[in-house]
Formats: sequence, structure tokens, C-alpha cells
Amino acid sequence: MSHTPNVLGLPKAELHVHIEGTLEPEMVFALAERNGIAPPAPTVADLRARYRFRDLQSFLDIYYANMAVLRTERDFHDLAAAYLTRCRNQGVRHAEIFFDPQAHLARGVEMGTVVRGLAAALEEARTDGFSAELIMCFLRDQPAESAAETLRLAEPFLDRIVGVGLDSAEVGHPPSKFAEVFRRARDLGLRAVAHAGEEGPPEYVHEALDVLGVQRIDHGVRALEGPALVARLRTERIPLTVCPLSNVRLAVVPDIAAHPLPRMLAEGLVVTVNSDDPAYFGGYIAENFAAVRDGLGLSTDDLRLLAANSFEAAFIGEERRAELL
Ligand code: ADE
Ligand code: ZN
Repeated sequence: MSHTPNVLGLPKAELHVHIEGTLEPEMVFALAERNGIAPPAPTVADLRARYRFRDLQSFLDIYYANMAVLRTERDFHDLAAAYLTRCRNQGVRHAEIFFDPQAHLARGVEMGTVVRGLAAALEEARTDGFSAELIMCFLRDQPAESAAETLRLAEPFLDRIVGVGLDSAEVGHPPSKFAEVFRRARDLGLRAVAHAGEEGPPEYVHEALDVLGVQRIDHGVRALEGPALVARLRTERIPLTVCPLSNVRLAVVPDIAAHPLPRMLAEGLVVTVNSDDPAYFGGYIAENFAAVRDGLGLSTDDLRLLAANSFEAAFIGEERRAELL
């Protein structure tokens, strides 16, 4: 019999999930039909069979292509509502959810359609002590001017957005490219996070902290390659939102047994476990907790620490944190 805690019952926060990455193949087909669009594959099974990725880019190509089915406010609402139901059933008490407006604006879907749909689902889910927020990501493989324009378009909706992030293809797109738009976002009172050290080098993590002023690093697994960076992350208690199943599926690590999470914990880093793009990577947050429990032999105390870290790292006030801990 297992003595490890029930990963579903463990209260936790999810801080790294892309709402477009929760678009399950079944929903791709349902939305394609509802919107009169040709589905991207002959069957659900055919679509799922394509989910074998060599690296981040091979995933992003399919991730962006599947978004073509998201057209209306109702589509964005239904996408978020489905994720929120799932994560609440997995013990998530607070969720901070990424979305990629540029991927929708480029297809002629307006900012208001996206934000109103997502925000309505979050508002409906805020019951029984559950909370949720939106973080708007800029696509780092697009020009900095496009990010600036995206922030301008989001200004009427900032009451529904807690922060900004930076995602998409990392290598060749250092954080410093986005210095100006992050400064503007922080001046507007938004929180800031950035993907860094997923495929990119430790220098990108330093830049995200020093140039963008981010309060958390998304992924950050390659930070371990920089001893001075590790010391800084530990001393300043900068949280890292780690996504173990994503790292395996995108070949950041060869398999779960090789994942550096135990080393990150041993270094005293504020690490959290998250799902990234659960419809593509084989599971939601509970499956990620189960994978590190079973694949890395993490102890009950380790799992509790990961959950406690998620509340420390969340963009919530002290009162709410005390309630959740
Ligand atoms: N967009 C969605 N998932 C991502 C990831 N894991 N890294 C960078 N950009 C992303
Ligand atoms: Zn991510």
C-alpha cells in the first residue's frame, strides 16, 4: 500500500498552465463542428497520434494550428470552464492561467472576445474558496512592437488580468527583446513572469530577472547549469514553475527519472509543479505530481513542500495565503 499522500487531495495552486494547452482533441472536433470549420485531422485518434514531439517548436506548430477552432467568446468560455472543472477536481485551490492573445489576434479574433470569454468562466468558478486569475503572455518569437500593441489592446481589460508573461520559441529570443513592454506593464501595476531556461541558457533567466523584473521564472530547469544563478534564486526565493511531464514530452530531459526536480529541491529552490499544456503532455497537475512521486521517488514531505511553495509563489495577498496554507 502506498504511504504517499493522495495527490488529488493535496491542496495546491497551479501557476503554469496555458489555457490553449488545455484544448483536448475532443474539444478541437466539437468546436470545429460548432464553428463550421474543417477539423485538423480525420479523427480524434489521428489528431492525438500526432502528439509526438521532438522539441518545443514541433509542439508549438500543432498547438497554434489547433487554435483555429477557437473563434467566439463562448469558445473561450467553454475552454476555460472545462479546465477549471478539471483542476478543481484535482485539488487546485488557486489557478493563474496563461493565455496567448497574439495567436488569436493574428486570426482576426478580437482581444475582447478572448478576455471576456475566459474571464467569465473564471468568475463562475470563484466559489467555495476557489480563486483564479489570468496572465497575458507575449509571444517572444514575434516582434517587440507586436507585444507593445497587444498590451495597448489589453488596457481596457486590465481589471481582469493580473500579470504578463513571455512564452513561445525561446532560443534566439532573449528576454531583453521585451524590456520596454515589460516596463510599461509593470508601470500599469501588472505582475510579471517569463518562461526562461526551458530550452534557453541560464543567461536568459538572469535577463528575465534583471531586465524584465519578473517575480517568477517559468520552467527554469536549465538554471541548474549556473551555480551563481542557483545561489541567487535560493537567496532571493524566486519561484520556479516546473512542468515535469512537459519537460519529458518536449525532450528537455530524456525521461522522468532524469528530471532535475530532486536536485532543485536539494538546492533549496522554491520549486512548484505544474501542467503547462496538459491536453498535449499526458496529464493535468495531479498526473504531474504522481509522475514525480512515482518516477523520482519524492517523499510525502517533498510533495507537501511543493504544494506549500505553490501558495508562497502565487499572486495572492497574505490573508488569502494564510487561508490556503
Ligand atoms: N507555449 C505553450 N507552452 C509553452 C512552453 N512549454 N514553452 C514555451 N511556450 C509555450
Ligand atoms: Zn509554459
